[in-house]
Amino acid sequence: MEAFPYFPTAGAAVLDATERPAAQQPQWPDPLQLAAAREEVRAGPALVGWDGVRHLGDLLARAATGEFCILQAGDCAEDPAECGADDVVRKVEMLDVLADIMRVGSGRPMLTVGRMAGQFAKPRSQPYEEHRGHTLPVYRGTMVNSPEPYAAARVPDPRRLVRCRDLARSVLSAVDDLGRGDGAADTERIWTSHEALVLDYEVPLVRPAGDGGHYLASTHWPWIGERTRQPDGAHVRLLASLRNPVACKVSADATVDEVLRLCSVLDPGRAPGRLTFVARFGARRIERLEPLVRAVREAGYPVLWMCDPMHGNTTRGENGLKVRRLDEIMDEIRLFVSVVQAGGGVCAGLHLETSPNEISECDGAGIVPGQGGAYQTLCDPRLNLMQAVAACAHWQPRKSAAETAKEDRLCDTKLDTMG
Ligand code: PEP
Ligand code: CO
Repeated sequence: MEAFPYFPTAGAAVLDATERPAAQQPQWPDPLQLAAAREEVRAGPALVGWDGVRHLGDLLARAATGEFCILQAGDCAEDPAECGADDVVRKVEMLDVLADIMRVGSGRPMLTVGRMAGQFAKPRSQPYEEHRGHTLPVYRGTMVNSPEPYAAARVPDPRRLVRCRDLARSVLSAVDDLGRGDGAADTERIWTSHEALVLDYEVPLVRPAGDGGHYLASTHWPWIGERTRQPDGAHVRLLASLRNPVACKVSADATVDEVLRLCSVLDPGRAPGRLTFVARFGARRIERLEPLVRAVREAGYPVLWMCDPMHGNTTRGENGLKVRRLDEIMDEIRLFVSVVQAGGGVCAGLHLETSPNEISECDGAGIVPGQGGAYQTLCDPRLNLMQAVAACAHWQPRKSAAETAKEDRLCDTKLDTMG
């Protein structure tokens, strides 16, 4: 890990964050091009406004009391060839179908969040990969380099920061054109989210919030990935210094101490809606989640717990492709619900990798990965519509005793007023 270089943006807390060690950063070859790209992003427009970010924070606070459930879904890595208005229509239609299934399964209205308009950077477990006897730097997302398997394509190019900012803007404006952006009703709105990974993109998009602090204007709801959640690292400290609601991935390797430390750094004020943990344990290790949920509750942090049943269930098939099995994904969702409820936590929703394309990437519901269809993903295998529908049907959290009592009271009041 290297210290992230100084970047002049307002806010002492933001500056402090960027001086900490930052994992998973690209090694840009040309510092002058990098400086020019960062300056172009900094001088350009905010992608999302402070009012929207604050409003999502309020809605997530209500989700923390069980009033809403949340669907967060989309590509593992957004493809620049699928950021046009027609693509956005298909992605939004898919989100709508999935949210509706979760609404029926949970009996709660839904908040809908795309992994979109900025999901262009990927953390990687290994810096190099083998391709036909050659060693190549890995693909790190459109924001950094290109997926083609030759060395020149894998060189990080800082002009991609500006290109991705422009792509994100066009996705957001397509969402607006559908009437699903600013001004849409709470349960109609499509919120955006991505992993806040490449600091040369995120930091220049830090903007003043209306309340004297700062917010990240690249997305409504940034998350911290499993590989960059070091409590003293740049990613955690950056999001700690900002006013957006934030999420953080946690795997089965996380300890109680680590998770409590993340709570104290990211949500020192114990503000409902501020912090969401996205658990990506894998169906076989999900029982390890219960002590974390219990410890966080006992320490008084009102966090939301979301289930990412994708990233803990990835294996390599015989052909070398990454594979995920739908039956394991469904198992993890059901087990997540019972484990989080047993630990007294809030089961807030699902975090999925999906595509409306006719893909064959995950195994199940009649699909064999790579056969009779396309394995198109730029990174991890996604669920197709049918598979995602099957997965969402397993989202069936029970209502807590307090919620049921509140509903009974409302019902009694209605009956009384009807005389
Ligand atoms: C992802 O969401 O695509 C991802 C890389 O997740 P994680 O940080 O949980 O591995
Ligand atoms: Co992924």
